[in-house]
Amino acid sequence: MNGIKNSELIVRKIKNGTVIDHISAGNAINVLRILGLKGSENLTIAVVMNVKSRKLGKKDIVKIENRELTPEEVNIIALIAPHATINIIKDYKVVAKHKVKVPEKIVGLIKCINPNCITRQSREPVTSVFTIVSREPLILKCEYCGRYITSEEVVNQLSRW
Ligand code: CTP
Ligand code: ZN
Repeated sequence: MNGIKNSELIVRKIKNGTVIDHISAGNAINVLRILGLKGSENLTIAVVMNVKSRKLGKKDIVKIENRELTPEEVNIIALIAPHATINIIKDYKVVAKHKVKVPEKIVGLIKCINPNCITRQSREPVTSVFTIVSREPLILKCEYCGRYITSEEVVNQLSRW
């Protein structure tokens, strides 16, 4: 009513940087793991978990001061937070807002878990290709051997800590 949202009651607005909003609840830590942010980078980071969201019921938010995400990082976040919006903040204003989009095919990013898959053979390396079976929960299918992999495995493979 007065424009103050739950999240803002907990964490103030940032001056410059990136706000990753509408992360499905429980995934903020996975977003940080994938971005490789441990808290030791000298960046001010706010992690807000389980706040009310009109669209998602509950959501997580990550605010990173003085850091803009690369398009590559944004795409990876889409895999584990398919509803996320990436807000670029300059001088307290949202100057850009991107909805993440899960790509139709994920090429070369994730390893197949089937040790016999052609993409795992060291003699003639074939780049892995996964297609989306389900976006939420995330389930991917190897184009070469048909093996399914789940979001948990994807997060483990993409995590940088
Ligand atoms: N935000 C922030 N610091 C700012 C500006 C915005 O931390 N200086 C945060 C807001 O708290 C919100 C997100 O960035 O979590 C997006 O801001 P805004 O676009 O103003 O909010 P909404 O209109 O609610 O966004 P959406 O439509 O994407 O839900
Ligand atoms: Zn495979």
